[in-house]
Amino acid sequence: MAEFDVIIIGGGPGGYVCAIRCAQLGLKAAVVEGRDTLGGTCLNVGCIPSKALLNATHHLHEVHENFEKMGIMGAKPTVDWVRMLGYKDDVIGQNTKGIEFLFKKNKVTWLKGWGSIPAPGQVKVGEEVHTAKNIVIATGSESSPLPGVTIDEKVVVTSTGALTLEKIPARLVVIGAGVIGLEMGSVYARLGAEVTVIEYLDAITPGMDAEVAKTFQRILSKQGLKFILGAAVQGVDKGKKGATIRYKLRKDDSEATLEADTVLVATGRRPYVAGLGLEALGVEMLPRGQVKTDDHFATNIKGLYAIGDAITGPMLAHKAEDEGMALAEILAGKSGHVNYDVIPGVIYTTPEVANVGKTEEQLKEEGRAYKVGKFSFMGNGRAKAVFQGDGFVKILADKATDRILGAHIIGPMAGDLIHEICVAMEFGASAQDLALTCHAHPTYSEAVREAALACGDGAIHA
Ligand code: NAI
Repeated sequence: MAEFDVIIIGGGPGGYVCAIRCAQLGLKAAVVEGRDTLGGTCLNVGCIPSKALLNATHHLHEVHENFEKMGIMGAKPTVDWVRMLGYKDDVIGQNTKGIEFLFKKNKVTWLKGWGSIPAPGQVKVGEEVHTAKNIVIATGSESSPLPGVTIDEKVVVTSTGALTLEKIPARLVVIGAGVIGLEMGSVYARLGAEVTVIEYLDAITPGMDAEVAKTFQRILSKQGLKFILGAAVQGVDKGKKGATIRYKLRKDDSEATLEADTVLVATGRRPYVAGLGLEALGVEMLPRGQVKTDDHFATNIKGLYAIGDAITGPMLAHKAEDEGMALAEILAGKSGHVNYDVIPGVIYTTPEVANVGKTEEQLKEEGRAYKVGKFSFMGNGRAKAVFQGDGFVKILADKATDRILGAHIIGPMAGDLIHEICVAMEFGASAQDLALTCHAHPTYSEAVREAALACGDGAIHA
C-alpha cells in the first residue's frame, strides 16, 4: 500500500493548489518543499514581493507627482529602504504562513526537504523514501543564464536579488524588456534610480499586442525609463564598484557600453528540474528543457505527472494553479480541464497592462476576419479623476459572429478589468453581450463596455 495517493514535488502555486484540491477531493496528499516557507518563487521571491514594492513605490509616485494637483500640500515623504523591504517581507510572511494554515486545514502533509524520484512511485526526501500512487512534478522555473554574464545577486542580479538590494542604485541597467524587467525597472525608477532597459528585439514586451506595447513604451519613457532596443548584450564586466554592460546594436553591429551600479538580468526563465533524477527514470523532455506531458499532464512514466513552469505554456502562477486543480480532478477520477485560450496576462506597472486571447498580429497571421473596438481611458471620467487617462481598452471580435477573440487593456486596474472579458470568452460571448451588460457608473469597467460598444454601432463617450 502506498503511503500517499499523491506526492507533489514543489510547494509553489502549481503544487500547493494541486495538493489542496487533491485533499478536498478525498485524496491523501503530500507536498515536498525544501524552502523554509511554502509558496514557491511566486510568494517568496516573485509575484507577491514585487507587488509589495510596486504598491509602495506607486504611492510614493502619487505623493510626488499628483498630490499637489489635488490640493494635498506639505512636506514630501522620503524612502526608508530598510523599512520598505521590511514591509515587503511582512507581506511575504503573511502569505506563506497562509499556505501553511491551508495545509493544516486540508490535512496536506508537508514533507520538508528537497525531493527526488529514485523509482516510479517513490519520492526521496533527505534520507527517507516515501511512496505514492501518483507523483507530480511542480518544481517551477529558474532564471535563464545569459552567456557572458555571471550572476552574484548583489551587483548583477536576477529578479530574486532585485528584491533585496542593499541600497537603491543610482543607475540600474535592466537586460530584457519583458515582464520582470519592466515591473522591477518601474520600482527602481520610482525610487529615483536612472533606469535603462536594454532589449534584444525592436519592441518591448514581445508577444504583446503591438499597439499596446507602443503605448506602454511611451508611457514608461514619460516615467523616466530609458530604452535601448534592438541591442544584444554581449557581456557584463564587474568592476570595483558596479559593472559595465557591453552590447551590440543589431542594425549595424556597432558596439557600445553602459555603466551601472546594479544590473538586473531579466531575459526569461527556464524549467527547474535539476536533481529530480528524471534522466535516470527515462522521462521524456522537450527540446527547451520542459517535461513532456500529454493533455492530462501525464509524462511517459506511469503515475508521474508534471504541471506549471516545468511543462510547456506561459510561465504564469495562475496557469500553474489551474493545471494543479485540473490534475487533482483527473487524479480523483473526474475530468479536469484548462482552457489555454483564455489565460490572462498582467503586468503590474502603473498603468497596468493586461491581455487575454489573440493579439491583432496573431489574427492577421491566421487570416481571420476580425473587427476592433477601442476606447480610450480619456473618455472615462473615473480614470481622468486619478490622472490615468493615458491608455485604452481594445477588444478584438470575429467580424462575422461578433464573438470575442481577444482583449488588450492598458490603464487603471487593467489586471482586474480583464477578467470580465475572460468570463465572457469562457461563455463564448459576443462583444454585443458585453455591450448590453449594464456597467456601474463611474467605474473603470465602463471603458470595457465602451470598447465592446465600439465593436458595434460605436462607443458613446468617444
Ligand atoms: P520575458 O520572456 O518576459 O522577457 C525577456 C526579455 O528579454 C525578452 O523581451 C527578450 O527579447 C529579452 N532578451 C533575451 N535575451 C536578451 C539579450 N541577450 N539582450 C537583451 N535582451 C534580451 O522574461 P522575464 O521578464 O525574465 O520573465 C520570466 C517569466 O516570468 C515570464 O514567463 C513571465 O511571464 C513571468 N513573470 C510574470 C509576471 C506577471 O505575470 N506579472 C511577473 C514576473 C514574471
